[in-house]
Amino acid sequence: MTTSILVIGATGRTGQQLIKAANEHPDHPQVHAFARNPQSFPSEIAEKCTSVQKGDALVADQVYDALVATKATHIVIAIGVPNSTAPSTLRGDSAEAIIEAMKRYPKPVKTVIISALGASDTKIQFGFGVGMVIYYILRHLLKDHDRQEASFLDYYNDNEKGLLIVRPTGLVDGQEGSKVLLFDGQGRTPSLTVDRYDMAAWVVNQIANDGDCFGKAINISKAV
Ligand SMILES: NC(=O)c1ccc[n+]([C@@H]2O[C@H](COP(=O)([O-])OP(=O)(O)OC[C@H]3O[C@@H](n4cnc5c(N)ncnc54)[C@H](OP(=O)(O)O)[C@@H]3O)[C@@H](O)[C@H]2O)c1
Repeated sequence: MTTSILVIGATGRTGQQLIKAANEHPDHPQVHAFARNPQSFPSEIAEKCTSVQKGDALVADQVYDALVATKATHIVIAIGVPNSTAPSTLRGDSAEAIIEAMKRYPKPVKTVIISALGASDTKIQFGFGVGMVIYYILRHLLKDHDRQEASFLDYYNDNEKGLLIVRPTGLVDGQEGSKVLLFDGQGRTPSLTVDRYDMAAWVVNQIANDGDCFGKAINISKAV
């Protein structure tokens, strides 16, 4: 079966790196962008996509249409509100709409969620209370990720290998080329950051190789 990845949040900073990483992967999986405003895509990213699907992730019908049009085998969700830590229900609400669309779609779809370290029971632990300060700043966003994760965990309850939750530390750009480190999310956080492309390349490898992290929640940072 041809691997066909639908990236939700494709115009965003992580979404663009996912498209780039898929395009550069030796297996050349199909990569489709799902975006509210395809015209806001940089042309150099749009041309790396197999197709661009216009749609709002809060509208189940539009997600369903994109699943059908792309014959999606995988969805990667990198949805958010740029540079905002204000209360938001976007991630949780879109999870419900995406799940509703997947329930109607007749083929099995695997999902990767880009969540965040601090979600669920994971801890942001840096010396001198830095982790607690970061957690406090991100508390609304983490609550939204908690809801997002819980919805998908519930949906994949009978098919755990269909879901991969990725919880990065702070996402940065322009530092690609470092190794990534997977850690347990309970002890000291290895690094405050991870480059978006490095994380995206790791995610695409998992998808292309049907990696053994499906069925798990993975905390990821730059290797130090
Ligand atoms: N920033 C960090 O340091 C950090 C760290 C850990 C985890 N995360 C998580 O990683 C995820 C991605 O973050 P990011 O900073 O890479 O993303 P971003 O640059 O903020 O991009 C967010 C994307 O979501 C899209 N979007 C918003 N509402 C949508 C809707 N209703 N339908 C379809 N698309 C919609 C935006 O599209 P439009 O162009 O249409 O607005 C945009 O493409 C977020 O969930 C964030 O919480 C971020």
